[in-house]
Amino acid sequence: MGNVKAIIDRIEGNFPEGMTILEAAQQLGLEIPTLCHSPEITPIGNCRICVVEVEASERLVASCHTPIVGGMVIKSRSAKVVAARKATVELLMAGHTGPCVTDECAKDCKLHNLAADLEVGPPRFRVRKRRYYPVEDVSPYVRRDMSRCILCRRCISACSEIAKKDVFSVAYRGFNSKVVVDYDKPLDKEVCRDCGVCIEYCPTSALARAEKGVARNE
Ligand code: SF4
Ligand code: SF4
Ligand code: FES
Repeated sequence: MGNVKAIIDRIEGNFPEGMTILEAAQQLGLEIPTLCHSPEITPIGNCRICVVEVEASERLVASCHTPIVGGMVIKSRSAKVVAARKATVELLMAGHTGPCVTDECAKDCKLHNLAADLEVGPPRFRVRKRRYYPVEDVSPYVRRDMSRCILCRRCISACSEIAKKDVFSVAYRGFNSKVVVDYDKPLDKEVCRDCGVCIEYCPTSALARAEKGVARNE
């Protein structure tokens, strides 16, 4: 595989073919915000926080899973890009049922940190919130608060690709979509190996360590 030349934010670079726009920007020392992406897991391309403008393309593209192509001229922080990122964060915050703005967990929440970085205040518009779910604390290892879930799907990929378990999937449709275990059963210790990987990858406080302190079951 050869290299391709492209320009990001007026900086020209040489990038290996197949590299994503996000990786190319990082190679140039440019920072593009992400939410669902993590370098250790297959790009999910779900949140669209990482969008960039590509010259001659009408639509903004998600940089985390779009390969860089020779001749591309990319803007990673144009007014259009920043406005789109702000709108996405605002929508996620507006549809989020968790009370976390006022709670301790907010400081560890990537969504809230992004909102602060992008100077997104409390949502200006009303959107239909996803359902309220009671906290699930059946598992001795993982406490699940699905009202705080933003459906980024990182836990699904992390559990599958890193923990090598396939504990989670998405069930239901539209506003009722939910990350579930089997046919929406509580997470129990039979299916979970207590590795904590899903907790580590969850960008919000939807997944947290259970407080029961049960020893690892490996
Ligand atoms: S703790 Fe590990 S095995 Fe259990 S659900 Fe999370 S990632 Fe999967
Ligand atoms: S539980 Fe966390 S990691 Fe999983 S989809 Fe929801 S926000 Fe994303
Ligand atoms: S970080 Fe690229 S789509 Fe979520």
